[in-house]
Amino acid sequence: MSSELRVENLRKVFATTTGQGSALKAAVDDVSFTIAAGEIVVLLGPSGCGKTTTLRCVAGLEHPTSGKIVIGGTVYTDPQAGVLVPPRNRNLGMVFQSYAVWPHMTVRQNVAYPLKSRHLKGAALDKGVLEALELVELADYADRPVTQLSGGQMQRVALARSMVYQPQILLLDEPLSNLDAQLRLRLRDDLRRIIKRVGLTALYVTHDQTEAVVLGDRIGVMRDGKLLQLDAPSEIYNQPADLFVARFTGATNEIDGRVVSRDGGFGAVAVASGDRLITRMGANLAVGASVRVALRPDNVGLAPSGEGFAGRVETRHYQGTQTVYQVSVMGTTIEALEVGSAARYAEGSAVMVAVPPEVCWAYPVG
Ligand SMILES: Nc1ncnc2c1ncn2[C@@H]1O[C@H](COP(=O)(O)OP(=O)(O)OP(=O)(O)O)[C@@H](O)[C@H]1O
Ligand SMILES: [Mg+2]
Repeated sequence: MSSELRVENLRKVFATTTGQGSALKAAVDDVSFTIAAGEIVVLLGPSGCGKTTTLRCVAGLEHPTSGKIVIGGTVYTDPQAGVLVPPRNRNLGMVFQSYAVWPHMTVRQNVAYPLKSRHLKGAALDKGVLEALELVELADYADRPVTQLSGGQMQRVALARSMVYQPQILLLDEPLSNLDAQLRLRLRDDLRRIIKRVGLTALYVTHDQTEAVVLGDRIGVMRDGKLLQLDAPSEIYNQPADLFVARFTGATNEIDGRVVSRDGGFGAVAVASGDRLITRMGANLAVGASVRVALRPDNVGLAPSGEGFAGRVETRHYQGTQTVYQVSVMGTTIEALEVGSAARYAEGSAVMVAVPPEVCWAYPVG
């Protein structure tokens, strides 16, 4: 049955060889989080930020330097206390980037294997396998050799095989990254439905922000071994904790300025042009502070006239279903995204640029 996962002050230091000799580097640096039973948490971050290492520590494949892994109230990893339960005794399901299916077996044999190794037989075995195959919509493929499947089908076999024995936790490490774009989108939606139907607790790692948003009940953004923010997707997108989280989730416009006044959770920022931009800001920012304001291109509104800052379209890139504009405004250049198949503004045209205060966030710099 699915269980709660608690990761406490997890740290994993690797010895790395550099030009100067060997050095110690924390791949995971004091990471703590809890996943409720039946919840899906996605760890999101750039390559090398420590996602896989965190997952491998949960699996027991990696021995952490310090910290604790507690699953369903039982301590599975605690190096200080000399506790390290081997992976096979953790009752976890795992799905990786590569299609880890057994090539010499049929679909049915692949999915039956974990049940057989748990000594299930006869009708109970057949029932378990059939249910798992139906869940991933591969019941009609049961007797095919897995080598005759597409990548997406193989990955669904891997998923069925990792869930058939009802693990306490399901661990998934970029399971969609070897699939072509279309299949990736389809399986991404399927994955959440399947995991939720079974009610599994899942830890999913990826560097793809849209995957994280679609799949996760909560998203944890990592950088350099640290967990920067763990929140519901809408919180990550609408209230990023710092400039890195904002940038990594697509708030790519950055406008520098200085705080000139404060009012509750908002404040006015004087920018290069002398204009005042009203933004959200944390309590740590006082009047006079140098800040960088992050803003998503899709939250920049363009209009022929009306409210906002006067700007000019520098370039436009028509992409069929959306148009990306570079607009000079407030003494800098920002990107604006117009959704729809009609590009309404020509290069060189004057526009009014609206930036709603609730979607601008100021962060300290320097
Ligand atoms: N066995 C190892 N020995 C030494 N360093 C390692 C080892 N495994 C990982 N690292 C280092 O730890 C850091 C985190 O690696 P990890 O594989 O956890 O990153 P990741 O977030 O999964 O990246 P990616 O998105 O590329 O898969 C990296 O700097 C990596 O080089
Ligand atoms: Mg990885």
